[in-house]
Amino acid sequence: MRTPPGPKLPFGIRRYRRDAAAIMGELHRDYGEVARFRVGPQVMYQVTGPGPISEVLHDKTGAYRRGQVYGGFELFFGKGSLTTDGEQWRTLRAAGQPFFRSGSLRPAVPTIADVITDMMDRWDALGAPDDPIDIVPEVMRLAFEVVTRVLCGCDLSERSTEVVAAIPHVLSGMFPGSPELLLPSWVPGPVRRRLRNTRAVINGVADTLVAQHLSGQLPPDRLVGTLFDTIDPATGAPLTRQQIADELKTYLLAGHETTGCGLAWTLYELAEHPDVTERLAAELERELDGRPPEAADLPRLPYLTQIVDEALRLHPAIPMFPRETTRDVEIGGYHLPARSTLFISSHTVHHDPRHWPEPDTFDPDRFAPDRPKPVPYTHFPFGGGARRCIGAPLAELEIQVAVAMITQRYRLTPQPGYPVDEHSLISLRPRFGLPMTITARREQPAR
Ligand code: HEM
Repeated sequence: MRTPPGPKLPFGIRRYRRDAAAIMGELHRDYGEVARFRVGPQVMYQVTGPGPISEVLHDKTGAYRRGQVYGGFELFFGKGSLTTDGEQWRTLRAAGQPFFRSGSLRPAVPTIADVITDMMDRWDALGAPDDPIDIVPEVMRLAFEVVTRVLCGCDLSERSTEVVAAIPHVLSGMFPGSPELLLPSWVPGPVRRRLRNTRAVINGVADTLVAQHLSGQLPPDRLVGTLFDTIDPATGAPLTRQQIADELKTYLLAGHETTGCGLAWTLYELAEHPDVTERLAAELERELDGRPPEAADLPRLPYLTQIVDEALRLHPAIPMFPRETTRDVEIGGYHLPARSTLFISSHTVHHDPRHWPEPDTFDPDRFAPDRPKPVPYTHFPFGGGARRCIGAPLAELEIQVAVAMITQRYRLTPQPGYPVDEHSLISLRPRFGLPMTITARREQPAR
């Protein structure tokens, strides 16, 4: 069987850290749907065709596991449902699943709307109306507060600023080839110190949640209480404090940064496309008449859904995700040896002109109800198969409600000439932030 094609020379680690999504795109263009490449000394593979991706994500034979790259995530996430496999993963996934059913999420919409209103009130109080606001830290705070309030039933808003400030260091520390991971653990210096401080912030939030649960301050039927009631099949005993803290960190980290990126890019695309924004504003006016949306309204807001789908196509918040082969495998007709690291790149597939004509154009009508549904694995911002993102229903709901409420209240204008670029360091963040001028559509009634 053939070895996948790929460039002879390796990519430098610095360029890979700076431009991973662009490199994935180039590899796909030059070598096709399964490609082999090196970053520094390490051989890796990428998979960018719907057929081969489906083979990997729906494998029933155990040929793929989380592997070395997800192992690096344990630095911050510990051993939670994102980083583990097998029985431990199944148990954690089953514990979290009920919180993402529509019956659990629908009643959460007023809570989500409250957090969004707090953010918009903060914007009103910030500086002169013509001063641009970088919306990236704003939406990150929003997403962090939504996860803690909806899943844990507690208000940790006073911690959101330090968490949001810590996240770029978390992403940098987890990315393959990071200086943090290359250094031996005993080497002192600024990188190690930053790593220690960042871990302390994230661990501190999980510890606070555990302490609040133990002192009876949290509703017992939310995520923390459920994890305390969960039995570890490996020991037959309840999960340990460490396992509980690891799973809480998983939800806090995986649940807020991604949704923040998705919302930031959606707002950016709307700001760049006033025609789309005004069509959305008309839909919102017709269906909501100025009030915040409730869960029951969302099916009557198809254009809103199309906009979010299209923004997540152009800018999938997790642009690529890894697997490791447990044994020799064949993917798309190519041979990959056991213990190979491979990346599935939704970003590349979402920009493939064979699936999406004029792929770089923002066009929500691609998802209009009268258009054919996308072919499987040509639009998959949340992954797929058994490991599909557990939080997808919350993320979509939150972004839709936020976009609706922000569009009802404001016009957002990007700062002219400001550089906008994607940086794919685990998630797909706006590299230089997204400063916007925020103008009220109409006077707000006093609260
Ligand atoms: C726009 C927002 C989001 C995007 C684009 C996104 C994307 C993804 C993707 C692609 C995966 C699959 C990774 C893989 O197969 O290796 C994943 C897994 C996961 N996501 Fe999300 N996610 C988002 C929001 C959320 C939210 C809101 C939560 C929780 C509150 C969450 C929690 C998780 C967890 C726990 C996993 C691991 C699931 C498992 O392996 O069983 N995500 N996410």
